[in-house]
Amino acid sequence: MTGLRPLIAGNWKMNGLKASASELGQMIAGAGGPAQKADLLICPPATLVLAFAGAVQGSPLRIGAQDCHPNPSGAHTGDTSAEMLADSGATAIIVGHSERRADHGETDALVRQKAEAAWRAALIAIVCVGETQDQRDAGQTLEVVGRQLAGSLPDGATAANLVVAYEPVWAIGTGRTPTPKDVQDVHGFIRDQLTQRFSGEGARIRILYGGSVKPSNAAELMAVPNVNGALIGGASLKATDFLAIAGAV
Ligand code: G3P
Repeated sequence: MTGLRPLIAGNWKMNGLKASASELGQMIAGAGGPAQKADLLICPPATLVLAFAGAVQGSPLRIGAQDCHPNPSGAHTGDTSAEMLADSGATAIIVGHSERRADHGETDALVRQKAEAAWRAALIAIVCVGETQDQRDAGQTLEVVGRQLAGSLPDGATAANLVVAYEPVWAIGTGRTPTPKDVQDVHGFIRDQLTQRFSGEGARIRILYGGSVKPSNAAELMAVPNVNGALIGGASLKATDFLAIAGAV
């Protein structure tokens, strides 16, 4: 960590039913210790945002969402706006996750619009970037991440409204992680890009690492310079694992 207050965020993806409130309850019960050192966020599916936001009231846990439409309202069947998510109690929205970039063809330009939508609703945008295995093998990691940052981050980013998540696509859900040195290189590059573009604010914007973070590797990954927290998929579904990771910062 580099002096910034870490953010430990869980991305539940398309997992979770009303019954998952019991897992959330265990997280709430155990959040006190980890919350002394880190901000804690759970991003359940949109169907659970309202109930979970009610449940965490009075606890240090916060609730976020996983995507939003760029527009505030209108004829967009099946979509959810940032304003609706804010109204349901979300405090942050993940945008540009690689699964959305791949499954829904989301471009950097669209991701940027979604980040702007999050800001319009006074929510934190957690913007995801990361290279595929082929891109890494071709030595294009920094080029790809640099292009995604340039295209996906709106002007006007601050430490209060933006979090960047570096998620190498090949590390997501695979149990494989980059070496600490590789993570350091990419996070250092992202930090440089942020400070070049947003000057002083760029030095304070948190950069999360995501991709197969689990209790057994969290301490090592969180100790890497310019790693200011984690975006956790699978391991965030279990309260004990999420809290163990949060306790490792
Ligand atoms: O957004 C978090 C994510 O993509 C990482 O997933 O399951 O590898 O922790 P996982």
